[in-house]
Amino acid sequence: MYRYYAMLFEMKAQLLDIFRRRHACHRFDPGRDIPRDDLEFILEAGRLSPSSFGLEQWKFIVLTSPQDKLALQAACFQQPQVGTASCDVVILAKLADMHPDSPYVQRLLIREYPGEQLAGALANYRGFHAATDVAAWSVTQCHIAAANMMTAAAGIGIDSCAIGGFKADEVARLLDLEPGRYAVALVLALGYCTEAAGEKLRLPLSELVEYR
Ligand SMILES: Cc1cc2nc3c(=O)[nH]c(=O)nc-3n(C[C@H](O)[C@H](O)[C@H](O)COP(=O)(O)O)c2cc1C
Repeated sequence: MYRYYAMLFEMKAQLLDIFRRRHACHRFDPGRDIPRDDLEFILEAGRLSPSSFGLEQWKFIVLTSPQDKLALQAACFQQPQVGTASCDVVILAKLADMHPDSPYVQRLLIREYPGEQLAGALANYRGFHAATDVAAWSVTQCHIAAANMMTAAAGIGIDSCAIGGFKADEVARLLDLEPGRYAVALVLALGYCTEAAGEKLRLPLSELVEYR
């Protein structure tokens, strides 16, 4: 029992250390690539993320070539972390696939609501879909995946920067996206930072939390 609590204590310390170490990197070492295995670990953290209705709204496009990264940097207001990253993961939010009549929704909902439950779940989802800003909702789910990927990356010594500053139409053109199929949710630049992390600036819990 003592060993179990000691292990939990150690786990908490390690997790907090990862959350404290992760920071938004503004310039990466352009000559240092992330090993494929580590990249797949980070993508797996994204894949395992929770999502509304379990609909896995994300798709991950990984850009690794220097010319693609530079073109993406131009679409991100020339932010240098995009071009110097080992790779950029463009996270796309599914739009058309979120329609209640799409084969995608049928395929995914049936996993969570098998048999007779499916019709009720679908009716519930249909009402939700009609009343929702689907693009904003889908993008929100992608941000959850992005957060998990950044934490996973920090856990294995890989730096990141979430990039919300992009021109969506330019990114869509660069990736040759079919209109209406996806919204660009976020760019995730990954690599090895060349600058020291700044001070972690956060409000105290006392200002953020209210127990009732
Ligand atoms: C959704 C989102 C979009 C962001 N977009 C940008 C961006 O375009 N450029 C940038 O340099 N940082 C961007 N950031 C990073 C934030 O500025 C950074 O996380 C915040 O200042 C806190 O600093 P820290 O991450 O180093 O703790 C973004 C972060 C999030 C979550």
